[in-house]
Amino acid sequence: MEVYPPKYHLITFGCQMNKNDSERMATLLKNLGFASTDSKEEADLILINTCSVRQSAEDRVFGQIHLFKPLKRANSKLIIGITGCLPGRDRDQAIKKKMGIVDLYFPTDQMSQLPRWIAELRPELVNSVDLVEDYMKLVPDRKTTRQAFVSIQTGCNKFCTYCVVPFSRGLEKNRPLKDILDEIKGLADHGCVEVTLLGQTVNSYRAPDAELFSQNNPYTDHFAKLLWEVNQVKEISRLHFTAPHPLHMTDDIIDAMTLPAHLNFIHLPVQSGDDEVLRRMNRRYTSAQFMEVIKRLKAKIPNLAIGTDIIVGFCGETEEQFQKTVQLFKDADIDISYTAKYSDRSGTAAHRAFADDVSNEEKKRRWEVIQQLMEVSVVKKNQRFVGEVVSVLVERHEAPRITDEMLMMPEKIQETIKNQPGLCYGNSREMKLTRFPGTKELVGQIVNIKITRADMWILEGELV
Ligand code: 5AD
Ligand code: SF4
Repeated sequence: MEVYPPKYHLITFGCQMNKNDSERMATLLKNLGFASTDSKEEADLILINTCSVRQSAEDRVFGQIHLFKPLKRANSKLIIGITGCLPGRDRDQAIKKKMGIVDLYFPTDQMSQLPRWIAELRPELVNSVDLVEDYMKLVPDRKTTRQAFVSIQTGCNKFCTYCVVPFSRGLEKNRPLKDILDEIKGLADHGCVEVTLLGQTVNSYRAPDAELFSQNNPYTDHFAKLLWEVNQVKEISRLHFTAPHPLHMTDDIIDAMTLPAHLNFIHLPVQSGDDEVLRRMNRRYTSAQFMEVIKRLKAKIPNLAIGTDIIVGFCGETEEQFQKTVQLFKDADIDISYTAKYSDRSGTAAHRAFADDVSNEEKKRRWEVIQQLMEVSVVKKNQRFVGEVVSVLVERHEAPRITDEMLMMPEKIQETIKNQPGLCYGNSREMKLTRFPGTKELVGQIVNIKITRADMWILEGELV
């Protein structure tokens, strides 16, 4: 006898885009009558939404599947599904063959077929199958109300030679402006104050329904126009986007970033500071062009915090070329870098054309050089916040904790500690994690915090 409702357990790896896709999948399964469970043992369906960007990410998927083997032995009816970037890039299913126990294997854009496939495997779990045509039409089932990620585009046309995304997620497809704005207005109606627009090259956005832009929208560039439209939704007071491509950072977009809702932060991937490496990566800009974008950004937004992505040890990268990246990191005055060791991906142009010839030890050494540089520079950069007031959206609260040592203290003191307000955490408009003493009622509110101490990864302060 089945226990109803049927349950699914969903594991998500990778970027915000994957997390947002998982939220759509949650909606799909909810509509189908499934409930979510944290327990793999009681699930009828286990789904992994995979990341494929580096080999280490794919290895983690294999690690998970290995753990499911005893579950499948105990319950042969258990459905195991793999989706996301891995099936997307594995069109000839060569990787799937190594997995063994997988029942469903589909790229993200086929998730709308999930109800039909479940019905075929376990008809008793599904009452009716209503298929949506386009998975992007599904409204994500979000866990938080105050903040939301909104995909405006899927896929990518850039074909950077190291990257699987154009294969795993297909070519760039932009969502209609109407769908994006309806989603954001709907979120705002339900208390959302912060929106992050998502796309692989988010600022190349072109609205398929451009006639719907407001008559008085002052910009020409579609992405700038979109930023302006979101700025008109008055409840949305914190807006940002990830990840833009340097090639599309027009003056219009930089100007739209000075509109009131925009956060004081940009994540702008550079990948390398050497022109020859950038050319082999097919990034379509030189380091001078990247620096020119940074200059234009800083001219308009002087205190802008900057994040980037860097790949170290790309095919043929010499020490001299790596040093150019080090120099660019300093020149651009980067706050945070998500640095990755180059990972050779089958199917990409780099895999076919170049040798992955920088040793792993050398990649690791270069990774540590950038990491060190970042740690020193970010501490210095964060010092400027001391004495300043920053605006924070409170995301979580930590109650005061009684540690083992405190148990030795008199009960009265323990009681006093327990009655402390605890600590609140959230991001400033520069996307700096900020901590301050406060009660749990502050979660979800936007508060002003005077910074008293600045560390590498955290600003500390007190409520103004
Ligand atoms: N190896 C290492 N890093 C990669 N990235 C993408 N593909 C690879 C790869 N093959 C990194 C890039 C990109 C980020 C999302 O992942 O820096 O910006
Ligand atoms: Fe990959 Fe380049 Fe597209 Fe980014 S822009 S998703 S790195 S191909």
